[in-house]
Amino acid sequence: MTKNLISIQDFSKEEILHVLDVAKEFEKDREQNFLAGKVVACLFFEPSTRTRLSFEAAVNRLGARVIGFPDNKNTSQSKGETLEDTIRIVSGYADMIVMRHPVEGAAAIAASVAGIPVVNAGDGANQHPTQTLLDMFAIRETQGRLDGLTINMVGDLKYGRTVHSLSEAMSDFDPHFIFTAPEELRMPKKYLDFLAAKGIPYEETESLEAHLDDCDILYMTRVQQERFPLKEDYERVKDVYELNASMLGGVRENMKILHPLPRVGEIHTDVDTTPYAYYFQQARGGMYVRMAVISYLLGYR
Ligand code: CP
Repeated sequence: MTKNLISIQDFSKEEILHVLDVAKEFEKDREQNFLAGKVVACLFFEPSTRTRLSFEAAVNRLGARVIGFPDNKNTSQSKGETLEDTIRIVSGYADMIVMRHPVEGAAAIAASVAGIPVVNAGDGANQHPTQTLLDMFAIRETQGRLDGLTINMVGDLKYGRTVHSLSEAMSDFDPHFIFTAPEELRMPKKYLDFLAAKGIPYEETESLEAHLDDCDILYMTRVQQERFPLKEDYERVKDVYELNASMLGGVRENMKILHPLPRVGEIHTDVDTTPYAYYFQQARGGMYVRMAVISYLLGYR
């Protein structure tokens, strides 16, 4: 049966740990060639810098080749072709599909017709599972463990697909969550219900200052302008949180600041040179994690 990665729940705890371990091996030796002859299609229907380029770099470093597009303006979708037909056609050309799409559930639709592994590189406000794996790679690198951590997620918890995937995945590692968001951007009820059913403790606050000093991971997020139906709603909350270096005086020594990036003002650049900033290293690890995901789904390591 074809193995896909559509939601982070498609991977068991053991599979997640396996991927993180293999990513660590690739970090030590990134010149791999065991996928020579394979073709991976990177289909990006929505803008991306990190996810697309790190996937393409990962494919190249594994010795495979990339086909695809960074937007769909020049594809036959502009003539009205359906997503399903596009995927059926690409499936005949490639060994794996990596797809980003603005519509929630699009990756699952692709997987239902593909017949080859499909990786969800972000579907609307729903899920971004490979971002979660690289977030966990960064968490384990910086904390030396995944278990028993206090994780403070800040910003757009409503539309931010990375926090949805990450909260689900970390729920297997005995976390304590703090969800910091304005009322309009609270973590959706379905994720809170998921955590409650598993007995995972969480608290919600609107105050960024309230829990800066008692968390191990401060996971900042961008307010997702592109997901707001009304521009005025976005304008009201876009600058709700701004972290600067002067706010970090009392934080835990081990605390690290993560962000899926891009940032647009929620982390001032004066934070970059503090010992707590880890978002650029976090993004760098994404290439190794994506090498490991591709390798695993194609049945290699
Ligand atoms: N974190 C992330 O998904 O970044 P891109 O949108 O640049 O791919």
